[in-house]
Amino acid sequence: MTDVIPPTIDIHLSPRDLRDAMEHDVRTGLTAAPKMLPPVYFYDERGSKLFDAITRLPEYYPTRSERSILDAHARDIAGRSEADTLVELGAGTCEKSRVLLDAMQSTGLLRRFVPLDVSDTTLWEAATTLAEEYPGLEVSAVVGDFHRHLDLLPTDGRRLFAFLGGTIGNLDPGQRREFFIKLGKVMMMGDRLLLGTDLVKDRTRLVDAYDDDAGVTAEFNRNVLHVLNRELGADFDPARFEHVARWNEPDQRIEMWLRSDQDQQIHVADLDLDLAFRAGEEMLTEISTKFSPAALEAELNECGFVVESMYASDGEEFLMTVARPSS
Ligand code: SAH
Ligand code: AVI
Repeated sequence: MTDVIPPTIDIHLSPRDLRDAMEHDVRTGLTAAPKMLPPVYFYDERGSKLFDAITRLPEYYPTRSERSILDAHARDIAGRSEADTLVELGAGTCEKSRVLLDAMQSTGLLRRFVPLDVSDTTLWEAATTLAEEYPGLEVSAVVGDFHRHLDLLPTDGRRLFAFLGGTIGNLDPGQRREFFIKLGKVMMMGDRLLLGTDLVKDRTRLVDAYDDDAGVTAEFNRNVLHVLNRELGADFDPARFEHVARWNEPDQRIEMWLRSDQDQQIHVADLDLDLAFRAGEEMLTEISTKFSPAALEAELNECGFVVESMYASDGEEFLMTVARPSS
């Protein structure tokens, strides 16, 4: 019987780094017009649990659609990549990683799993469970930021970089470009990128996926205010902010905003920052870009990637793309 290998964890984001980044981002975002916050701060322990609940909502199709593509094509993807190492960026609970790990195991090559996430508790729980479920698998978890720490990932082996769930859509075009270019530089000959992207579709279906009847997405959106209250001594009353999900046609993206329901003053103690919100004023908390296969391929090409294959779910709801750096 193969032994369970205890997982390891590399921490590239110390509590001090996280704090410095948060102070900088929150000061910059809350003093901008319109006010905005980066989505990375949704994902404390509660936020990660709320996201997990979102993935099971009837309205939130992306997780099920992506999963259906993986169920149908993971073996093909694993076989063609010949990878022995799965690197997963923004891995979260690693729910869908199992499908890829099983497929890679069936090639007989699987050796290592490297999940990276900013959310250390969620990552560690997932890493521990997976190491037990896959005896013989080296699980090397990395607490890091996929904007800043790609060059610190383990380099040995032949790697399949999975970036699932449509998380790439949470980056704006400039951030995506920077991300793809950095990723292309760290990828070596033989490495592959497996990218999950949500596709443009009927506007009502899109908006409903971000404004569910049970109010889970609203709670996820407001969670960022709880995080700022706890981490930075802010005094937001989350009940005074309404969840707004809106389709932005020119930019082809869903936007989540928090709308102040009254004139209010907010104090962020640790930043010595006083803010005024007008009644009806909205703060941008997340973008979730939706793609067309052609636009995505053009974007990847511009950033130095060649697309090898694309797999769409039934009804063209979601797309998975396998790509490699062109040189
Ligand atoms: N890949 C999973 C989870 C998606 S939720 C899925 O497909 O279901 C987005 C995940 O990305 C969260 O776990 C969050 O903590 C992580 N994340 C968000 N911004 C990040 C960043 N800048 N660096 C690393 N992880 C990040
Ligand atoms: C993680 N990310 C791809 C999700 C999305 O759909 O943009 C986050 C999310 N926000 C609201 N619901 C889900």
